Amino acid sequence: MPDSNLPQLEQLDVTVIITNRTRHGSPLWSEHGLALLLDCHWTDRRSRRILFDTGASGDLLQHNLETLQVSPGDLDAVFLSHGHLDHTGGLSSVLDYHEAEFMVVAHPEITREAVTTRDSLQRISPGHETWDRIPSSRLILLREPAQIFPGVWVSGSIPRKTPFEKPREGQFTLEDGCLLPDNDPDDMAMLFDIGPAGPVVITGCSHAGAVNTLLHARTVIDTGQRPTLVGGLHLIGADENRLESTVQGLHELNPAQIRPGHCTGETAEGALEERFADRHHPFSTGDRFTYHRIR
Ligand SMILES: [Fe+2]
Ligand SMILES: [Fe+2]
Repeated sequence: MPDSNLPQLEQLDVTVIITNRTRHGSPLWSEHGLALLLDCHWTDRRSRRILFDTGASGDLLQHNLETLQVSPGDLDAVFLSHGHLDHTGGLSSVLDYHEAEFMVVAHPEITREAVTTRDSLQRISPGHETWDRIPSSRLILLREPAQIFPGVWVSGSIPRKTPFEKPREGQFTLEDGCLLPDNDPDDMAMLFDIGPAGPVVITGCSHAGAVNTLLHARTVIDTGQRPTLVGGLHLIGADENRLESTVQGLHELNPAQIRPGHCTGETAEGALEERFADRHHPFSTGDRFTYHRIR
């Protein structure tokens, strides 16, 4: 039950700072990465600004933030959905900003070394040189669900329940120089309890699975309302079974809206469009959309 003494989250504004595509003629740049600006507004007129992931490169993040007239000094928190470089590559550039005082929120496993062998052997997570730059007083690591502002939740670890959302092939973590299988244990989502408008669930890559993420969100904030899903659904390269089962699983959860981007993939967006039609709105760099509490 919501604490009646707390102000209620009244409005959530989402601005797409970086995703894999941009609209024709936009002054913004795009890359394979994700960064979203989340402006939260409460009934007591307070506001907080959260950067959800930082894209793949500092130069691109800085260019897009400047073009949109957003200063890192205005951020209250940077949430990292997981450690992959396409979400954390811009972190150093915002940490560099001299007036920045934001908190960094992530899963404790985010600092492990992630390695892929899919195309060639390469590291896909930042090294300790990046993590060590975050002052310990500004770092919050969470394994369990936690409310970081009224109505604003971090999912904690996402249980893997569905049989079709399996760990990806060719992904490893490096421990004492040895490659060990890795299933993205640091993958987390943010959940926004915006009352009767339904929970808004924002994901980075959904490595835990889009259906698993929504199933878990329901256990953290059970508003009884239809959820909205925003973010990367990582269905690029998914086989037919995974794709069909995901679309069916999402259909059973009856989302009010699906806004995919980043690593969702064109084939998956085509399948989502076919099944969800007017509830499906893929996003591009520079897009803005708002969720309001319905009174
Ligand atoms: Fe990604
Ligand atoms: Fe990822």
